Amino acid sequence: MKKIILSSITLASLLVIGLTLSSNSSGPGGNRTGSPGSSGDCSGCHGGGSFGGTLKVGITEIGDTTFLSFYTPGKVYDLHVISGGTSTKKGFQATILTSSNTAAGAISAAPSGTGIDIAGGKSIWGHTSTSSSGVWKSIWTAPAPGTGTVTIYGAAVVSNANGANSNDQVVTANAMIGEMVSSNTKSLDATKLKVIENPTNTVVRLNGVAKNMIIWNNQGQVAASSKNTSELNVSQLPSGTYYLQTVSENNVRNTTAIVIK
Ligand code: HEC
Repeated sequence: MKKIILSSITLASLLVIGLTLSSNSSGPGGNRTGSPGSSGDCSGCHGGGSFGGTLKVGITEIGDTTFLSFYTPGKVYDLHVISGGTSTKKGFQATILTSSNTAAGAISAAPSGTGIDIAGGKSIWGHTSTSSSGVWKSIWTAPAPGTGTVTIYGAAVVSNANGANSNDQVVTANAMIGEMVSSNTKSLDATKLKVIENPTNTVVRLNGVAKNMIIWNNQGQVAASSKNTSELNVSQLPSGTYYLQTVSENNVRNTTAIVIK
């Protein structure tokens, strides 16, 4: 009886080991994008081969092919990861971060053969089955105004397709995308509403009534909003840096970074 129990435990652990190993061609998991704060890139396990591998990452307008150097806050773009090289089995991971290395905007689509994992609060988009084309596309929603320059980090394996992590080529790429700042907002600075309590932990107060007050978190989501008021209750919000967008009666818009304690 003891023997039977022992051997079924051995069998079970073999199965677990087998599953853990085979989960690699379906993506390494975690954050192997090579970005700041990641566990390095794919070269932690892969390498030693050369197959003319290349890698390009970037955003375009939806359905377009021209890579852009600037994003408009809140706008939706195609996110591309394109890997070249003579291999029938390619894989990748990619993420987009702000200059302070937090998630920038939202990666929201995971077409077949890919998936999105959250690791350390960041969206990691990667392969779940290998691809022979090495062409992957998702959707990215740009972050709130005031986020500034963001960086796309990508890492890919252009493999020898031997079903192991030996003699593969690792390629990495990154691309910086600047924030498009509206020149309109700048020239009308003099008329803008001002925040008179910043940082705060209870209410955000303005020096006048705003037609709209909208507070965005650094994931580009609306955290609080109000209409026709000079203050907005923020006591329910987790502490951190947010972006307050005000729209005045005469439709002048302004965005300020605010700190909630
Ligand atoms: C912790 C180790 C480890 C890391 C890190 C890792 N892999 Fe792997 N990978 C493996 C192992 C082991 C295999 C072979 C077993 C398998 O295919 O499941 C493998 C297989 C693959 C294969 C198929 C290779 C072939 O020759 O058939 C691809 C493609 C791949 N990984 C892509 C990636 C990419 C892309 C990354 C980085 C974003 C990455 N891997 C990071 C361990 C790793």
